[in-house]
Amino acid sequence: MRLRSYRNFGSAGPEAPLAATARCFSSSRPRPLQQTPSQRVKLTSETYPDIKRDSRFSPLTKEHVAYFRGILGSDSAVIDGVTNESAADDIEPFNSDWMGKYRGQCKLVLKPGSTEEVSKILKYCNDNLLAVVPQGGNTGLVGGSVPVFDEIVINLSRMNQIVEFDEVSGALVVGAGCILEVADQFLASKGYIFPLDLGAKGSCQIGGNLSTNAGGLRLLRYGSLHGSTLGIEAVLADGTIVDDLCKLRKNNTGYDLKQLFIGAEGTIGIITKASIQCPQRSAAQNVAFFGLESFEKVQQAFREAKGQLSEILSAFELMDESSQALVGEVTKNRRPLEGKYPFYCLIETSGSNADHDSEKLGAFLEDVMEKGIVSDGTLAQDETQIKALWAWREGIAEALGHLGGVYKYDVSIPLQEMYQLVEDTKARVDAAGLLGDTDEYPVREVIGYGHMGDANLHLNVSTRRFDKRVEQCLEPFIYEWIEKRQGSISAEHGLGLQKKNYIGYSRNATTIGLMKGLKTHFDPKGILNPYKYI
Ligand code: FAD
Ligand code: MLT
Ligand code: ZN
Repeated sequence: MRLRSYRNFGSAGPEAPLAATARCFSSSRPRPLQQTPSQRVKLTSETYPDIKRDSRFSPLTKEHVAYFRGILGSDSAVIDGVTNESAADDIEPFNSDWMGKYRGQCKLVLKPGSTEEVSKILKYCNDNLLAVVPQGGNTGLVGGSVPVFDEIVINLSRMNQIVEFDEVSGALVVGAGCILEVADQFLASKGYIFPLDLGAKGSCQIGGNLSTNAGGLRLLRYGSLHGSTLGIEAVLADGTIVDDLCKLRKNNTGYDLKQLFIGAEGTIGIITKASIQCPQRSAAQNVAFFGLESFEKVQQAFREAKGQLSEILSAFELMDESSQALVGEVTKNRRPLEGKYPFYCLIETSGSNADHDSEKLGAFLEDVMEKGIVSDGTLAQDETQIKALWAWREGIAEALGHLGGVYKYDVSIPLQEMYQLVEDTKARVDAAGLLGDTDEYPVREVIGYGHMGDANLHLNVSTRRFDKRVEQCLEPFIYEWIEKRQGSISAEHGLGLQKKNYIGYSRNATTIGLMKGLKTHFDPKGILNPYKYI
């Protein structure tokens, strides 16, 4: 085992590799390598023939379209494939999900520009039994953001205003369609930061982030959106506007209704605006990237990081060797470390005093090296290297997408057993004869990465093509495995279509009953995002 002194971390010496210089590339849509234009993604209704269209919902007519045109006016706010067959290509991106796994048959996309327009659309849909799918940046990973059949897509992208910002309190009010990165760049100019960051930041919208209760890369530091959301404005299925757009941190007057919309995945209302408590942006940031010999050592490193870096620790992310090999294969970038290790960790610190942070980080690095917890590592020397190191973590999802179909499982498990799930799954897929290096095997690799700091593992089964045999090998096996450990089958991505039938592995009958009651209360006709969630 070769130990490198932390003083050489990230140095430009001949045997100390610099972090690769590529930027994170994860907000573009991956193009599965084995897909040619003629091999389009299968319709969800073909992949899952047991899901039947609810015959209560009315088919769309030209009269419906005319009504929506009357509300929305501008031509660009209505993409009409009902009366105009040539609109099919324009509608396609709204029908297909980011992973190329789900594909709906929607013929009408509406892009409202105000809360009042959303309200009029929903009232009409409710009165006329027209099913709808709220859609933000369409980066969701569980099939929640695209229709299954002919539901109308209500896309929030035009409602992208930064409404107001209080430079003293840090309260930001934005339209639901505001792109996360746009909000964060605005905040950066004011010395603040959005309390959520994730690889899809260039495409995902704040309404979508709230609706999935996205966790992301810095939940460890800033907590969940349940904590940082001050208020929400939403429209219910019958068109009622709920104005709960509080801008204060404290508000104990009655039930905290806004919380119900966070993580509801568009099933009880459409979020139109949000008020978010944003923290001050840290003046000093450091990123270190480690190679470790075992998952036991990863856990030790995490304990030491929490203990020694405490208030400046802002991220602790885990990657296994297979995930890094795949990112390298796709990006062709030079790996951050010379050697290969079974596990890698990315540690970020953010604080207000660069000298203080460097001193703390220096002491930490020396300690974990001396104790033999970490085998090798590199420390980013500037902003470019920070981004480059993050790309090896943030870029995993997109790299996988470029290699073919991915079966994604986003789970919480007690930390000690977190990586065991990857090993057990790999053994199972291998035993079923599905894993191999050549084209006859559907599975290319089973990999694990995730938000170690939140005990959140992303188990990904990378395939050459989606294949029912693989899905049947994985499900319900993975959900049963999680249930035995009292884990969560949905740590941060949500339920969507993928996990609708599996919620019972993580929630008991009483809880599910209460959830169903809520759904019926808010959306008695079931027009909002049908066939999904619960
Ligand atoms: P969409 O995908 O459009 O929608 C998601 C769900 O919310 C759907 O059910 C939709 O119906 C509903 N919805 C959308 N907008 C509204 C609205 N205004 N009102 C009501 N319902 C609405 N997730 C994490 O938690 N952590 C990560 O680190 C993370 N990283 C990612 C990295 C990549 C590269 C990608 C592609 C995805 C990642 N995700 C991650 C998934 C994550 O859920 C989304 O990126 C994001 O939160 C969804 O936002 P969106 O605007 O794209 O929503
Ligand atoms: C991540 O943490 O990278 C995201 O949640 C996306 C994924 O799981 O692939
Ligand atoms: Zn994640």
